[in-house]
Amino acid sequence: MGKPWYVGIWEGQDYLTNINRTQEEIKMIIEAARDLERKFKSKIPTPYLAGQTLFMLFYNRSLRTRNSFEAGIFQLGGHGNFLSPNDVYTPTLPEDMVAYKTEAISDVARVLSRYGNAIAIRIYADAAKWIIGRGHRIIEEFAKWASIPVLNMEDDIFHPFQALADIKAALDVMPNLRGKKFVVSYAYSGGLKPLAVPQSVALIAAMMGAEVVVAHPPGFELQDEIIQKGKEFADQYGGSFEVTYNMKEAFEGAAFVYPKAWSPKGFFPPYSADGKVHKEEAKEYQAKFKDWIVTMDLLEEAGKPYYMHCGPADRGMEVTDEVLDTYEKSLYFEEAENRLHVQKAVMAMVMGSRYD
Ligand code: CP
Repeated sequence: MGKPWYVGIWEGQDYLTNINRTQEEIKMIIEAARDLERKFKSKIPTPYLAGQTLFMLFYNRSLRTRNSFEAGIFQLGGHGNFLSPNDVYTPTLPEDMVAYKTEAISDVARVLSRYGNAIAIRIYADAAKWIIGRGHRIIEEFAKWASIPVLNMEDDIFHPFQALADIKAALDVMPNLRGKKFVVSYAYSGGLKPLAVPQSVALIAAMMGAEVVVAHPPGFELQDEIIQKGKEFADQYGGSFEVTYNMKEAFEGAAFVYPKAWSPKGFFPPYSADGKVHKEEAKEYQAKFKDWIVTMDLLEEAGKPYYMHCGPADRGMEVTDEVLDTYEKSLYFEEAENRLHVQKAVMAMVMGSRYD
């Protein structure tokens, strides 16, 4: 059994975001994921990472990410080692060190690099002190010091593997997204969710040449640099990238709608006027937008677009039960499944060896 073409092609590289990749490279990941999906469903063994260890450090809870990475590395012949930051000395930036409770990320990254083959990290929200960008900085700190690949399992700016899974789900039902309206919309939740998913999904859709529309109430703007990047991708790949404040108008004629909650960033540093974190005020503000919910009527009036959400969706807030349970053009579970396939693809690419 020879190794497939994708194993080890990016040996040793980190995977922190999709935006430093090209459209061609994203399509290579999708192609590799489809090969792994076919083999998984046919029960064909894929031991391309036999004997390798993936360390999985979760500062936040997870269903999909943890289980798809852990199952994925096992299916590739390796082992996933789950690390709770409270059960090790919490890996921490230099300014937050506490004697014998924390350990410098620079040291943790170098120690784990001596034991295994990749480090995957999830950190956002309270774990990153609600300072937007701090979670991403922590993952970059791991990447700076580790001598093995570092994988971003979601920070406060990007969720690259979610976006890969989502774009695979979209491409599986519509092979060419050029000229297709792809709406990333705010939808209400009582919780405070990070910007990572809408930002990553809007950008990867722009990388595929889609007509991207980001819809949200005032105050839920994505980061300026993300919007700028979206416009650059639209120019580069022949699509468009627009922002609107009206969910219903945005949905009209859409091929795909991706409505989910994120937090109004003006209540959090570095965007808050006083530089402080205002979680309760943010929740009070977002409660004004409970009518940003996806219903069957809304989807039917829009012309029945494909419905997308990364999960977990907040039923009765972001979306009705009826949509999640009965809408025939929902990709909700395909997106969740694709986490397994795309993550296996990227692990094989960056953890594998080019040599037999
Ligand atoms: N979409 C996603 O990352 O799900 P989990 O929080 O369950 O990992």
